[in-house]
Amino acid sequence: MTTTNKFLERIKIHRDSKKEEKFSGTLEHYLRLVEKNSHIVSLAHKRLYDQILSHGVIALDDSDHRCNKIFDGEEVKIFDYFSSQFFGMEKPLEKVMRFLRSAAMKGEESRQVLLLLGPVGAGKSALVEHIKGALESCSPIYVLEGCPIREEPLHLIPRSLREEFSETYGIAIEGDLCPVCRHRLINEYQGDYTQFPITQASFSVRGRKGVGVVPPMDPNTQDTSLLIGSEDISKLDLYPEDDPRVLSLNGAFNVGNRGIVEFVEVFKNEIEFLHTMITATQEKNVPSPGKQAMIYFDGVIIAHCNEAEWNKFKSEHTNEAILDRIVRVNVPYSLEFAQEVKIYKKLIGRSDFDCHIAPHTLEVAAMFAVLSRLKPSNKVDPLTKMKIYNGAEIVEKGTIKKVDIKDLREEVEDEGMTGISTRFVMKAIDAALADSTKNIITPISIRDALIKQVKEQIVKAEDRKVCLQFLQKTLHEEYLSILEKEITKAFVTAYEEQAESLFNNYLDHAEAYVNSTKLKDRVTNEEMEPDERFLQTIEEQIGIKGSAKNNFRADITSYMFAKLRRKETIDWRSYGPLREAIENKLVTSVKDISRIVTKSKSRDVKQQKKFNSMVQTLIDNYGYNEDSAEEVIKFASNNLWRDS
Ligand SMILES: Nc1ncnc2c1ncn2[C@@H]1O[C@H](COP(=O)(O)OP(=O)(O)O)[C@@H](O)[C@H]1O
Ligand SMILES: [Mg+2]
Repeated sequence: MTTTNKFLERIKIHRDSKKEEKFSGTLEHYLRLVEKNSHIVSLAHKRLYDQILSHGVIALDDSDHRCNKIFDGEEVKIFDYFSSQFFGMEKPLEKVMRFLRSAAMKGEESRQVLLLLGPVGAGKSALVEHIKGALESCSPIYVLEGCPIREEPLHLIPRSLREEFSETYGIAIEGDLCPVCRHRLINEYQGDYTQFPITQASFSVRGRKGVGVVPPMDPNTQDTSLLIGSEDISKLDLYPEDDPRVLSLNGAFNVGNRGIVEFVEVFKNEIEFLHTMITATQEKNVPSPGKQAMIYFDGVIIAHCNEAEWNKFKSEHTNEAILDRIVRVNVPYSLEFAQEVKIYKKLIGRSDFDCHIAPHTLEVAAMFAVLSRLKPSNKVDPLTKMKIYNGAEIVEKGTIKKVDIKDLREEVEDEGMTGISTRFVMKAIDAALADSTKNIITPISIRDALIKQVKEQIVKAEDRKVCLQFLQKTLHEEYLSILEKEITKAFVTAYEEQAESLFNNYLDHAEAYVNSTKLKDRVTNEEMEPDERFLQTIEEQIGIKGSAKNNFRADITSYMFAKLRRKETIDWRSYGPLREAIENKLVTSVKDISRIVTKSKSRDVKQQKKFNSMVQTLIDNYGYNEDSAEEVIKFASNNLWRDS
């Protein structure tokens, strides 16, 4: 089959699948459906909530690494509908879902606007887009045929019968016929509402079906027809002035009925313009463009804006009525660099990039972004704070006290609402690639690109200084330390085994020391005293000296044995500080050989062999290619092992 024939086949199948029978009937048929399945009359908030939830939800409990370390043991819900596309956003998403849930149960939230507040590039627009997308996979809704706002067929039931309806079906009917359907009922069906045709309709973001979007408007062109539709001038000649047939109900609140109305950068609009929004929430009604009665509106209103606009808006007390109608959810930047990396990977995955990205490249960029977003702490330096926010266990220098993430969080308010945006970093990635002659990006080239961009684009001198400090000093050193460990691993054959053996030895000796007992040599079975010298060579790697050693050893021993009692496995990575000590110890042990061997001038044959094997390991096991390995080794030998 030719390619085109194959594709035509696909088109046919696709079209056939779309041909599914649409419901077509009258009130009688509809009532029978409602009797069988009352969900078909759900209001907008409930429909949306149920749809998102139907993808699944799990609660992260304390068996999960992130729950334990990042959320401080609080149970966090993860909604599957978002989890493959939004990263490090669990808390805001939980709040959004809590809003929808209360609104679905017709709580006060069903009469409120959901406002997403956050800095540029924090993912607000993407999130709203994704939420709107959920509607498209909803089952089609039942609507009055030809209704411009696709209204609920139960609106046909007259007020006088509604109480009885509610008792019979257990469903309360909200809202009345729109002026267009009312006119048709009287004129085409002589008021016999049992004859009004009912059909089905689905949601479409691009087709403006059930989804209305209000972009920010220039105050001079603001026109409420964008919200509530207008009167069609060409029809004014044909019909009397108050005839609903002159109405074009194509405003955002008309097309968004039963679905979502989105206000983009909402507070860029004039206040007057927002009053319709308030009426829509308060009364669940919007004005009709003509002289007709108000039109019932049932929809989720989602607005978003940044903090500067919000603060300006909030400070004007004339806006209180609107403020009262808003449920605000902060959408900050991610403060976990591992999650931030996932965002970049997602964005890169969507582009046509096909270059080689060296290990730690995105990590270094993400670390920079997070550092710029953190507020300073009195307890730890920015780099340490960044690591703790990423889930690392860090012990205060020279002590055994672990820094508690909760203490750091409590020091500050509203963190993550400022700093470097995702877009800023993505632009630097583009720039680094454009400058590369070998089609690679490395931590070194991304850092250079970021430095350049900071110098060019950050106008506030103070901010610029802080950012440059992070890039030129903090991350320069941090990357060198990451790189040193990586090269060590590639040098040391059986790195894991060596680390594991140091760990076991340390634990044996520390335990004997803590319990004042002797220990048995694993090979000779001889009894011996704990080896104080050995214990210290490990501890000094992370600055534990003097009497602090007693607590450190006791701490590790009880930590490990508690884990063993819970039948968890332990290894050399189990306890952050000890892991760091072991890594440093191994790095120190190969420092000299690293220095000699990576200097190309002084290599002899044996050293050359060792060097080649190290490079090969970097390529085979650690994700480098030849060019990126060469670049980072050169960087290491220029910066790490300078002959002094
Ligand atoms: N936490 C996040 N998880 C996944 N993607 C994100 C996240 N934050 C930002 N993004 C991505 O960054 C880009 C910019 O976000 P955008 O929604 O335009 O931000 P905003 O509307 O807040 O200015 C989008 O492509 C979005 O998908
Ligand atoms: Mg946006």
